Amino acid sequence: MRVLNIGSLNIDYVYSVDHIILPGETEATGSRNTFLGGKGMNQSCALAKAGVEVYHGGMIGQDGTMFLDACKEYGVHDEFIKIVDGPSGHTVIQIDKNAQNSILLYGGANQKLTTEYIDEVLSHFDSDDILLLQNEVNLLPYIVDKAYEKGMQIALNPSPFNEKLDAVDMKKISIFLLNEVEGFQLTGEKETEAIIAKLRALFPHARIMLTLGKDGAVYVDEKQQVFQPIFKVKAVDTTAAGDTFTGYFLAGLADGLPMEEVLRMSAKASSIAVTREGAVPSIPYRAEVLEALQA
Ligand code: RIB
Repeated sequence: MRVLNIGSLNIDYVYSVDHIILPGETEATGSRNTFLGGKGMNQSCALAKAGVEVYHGGMIGQDGTMFLDACKEYGVHDEFIKIVDGPSGHTVIQIDKNAQNSILLYGGANQKLTTEYIDEVLSHFDSDDILLLQNEVNLLPYIVDKAYEKGMQIALNPSPFNEKLDAVDMKKISIFLLNEVEGFQLTGEKETEAIIAKLRALFPHARIMLTLGKDGAVYVDEKQQVFQPIFKVKAVDTTAAGDTFTGYFLAGLADGLPMEEVLRMSAKASSIAVTREGAVPSIPYRAEVLEALQA
């Protein structure tokens, strides 16, 4: 099984701060680091590092050719990534002393996808393949409709959650990967069980992967509900923790592993990622994850 991931590629400018800056406040930062990121790129790298055949679709500016080098390094197929005029997407990320972040996102090239481009990329894939999407590129409703017509399974991480998702036909989604905040935004429910019940009622045939921060993660489908607690670690940077979980979760599904094993592997991979700085560079390889699980 191949995964086509049409998603963002962002240059992350990461600033360490004492606390996330408040409205009207000025705070000096001692450090600025630059990392490759973007929910799309992070998830492609997590998939590749977990051993999945993954193709990334998306756009970068002339300033983003290091993404192509990173794809080659980590084993992400990059032939569909297009270089366009204008800057790549970028973010300004504050990381506070508790490793929490806040992210300001500039879409740049991520917002330049065209219907012609989508048609061309999708023409290389079929119903045996999974399409993975997040909400940092334009044309999401079109991409979902076209992939659904082709019979592809569509996995959606509705993040960041905003009004652009209103135009997406969610009934066409086979796999939802979301956190409890996005779960609330999608269902209007606050409690975990209520979120799950509402999602099950709205999308009875979908697989639902709900992450709950420090409270773990819960997976639900028509046949089973499986809970996974977190592996406790000292976090330094939580950026891309969810993306790492997503990549490893889909890798476990692709391998047909029992769900308990899929979730353990995903949670362990994510717990390793938060002990490291940056997005893409923080994502562990599968061998390291499996070794850590045995330790
Ligand atoms: O999920 C983390 C990612 O979100 C960061 O790498 C940043 O680029 C934003 O897109």
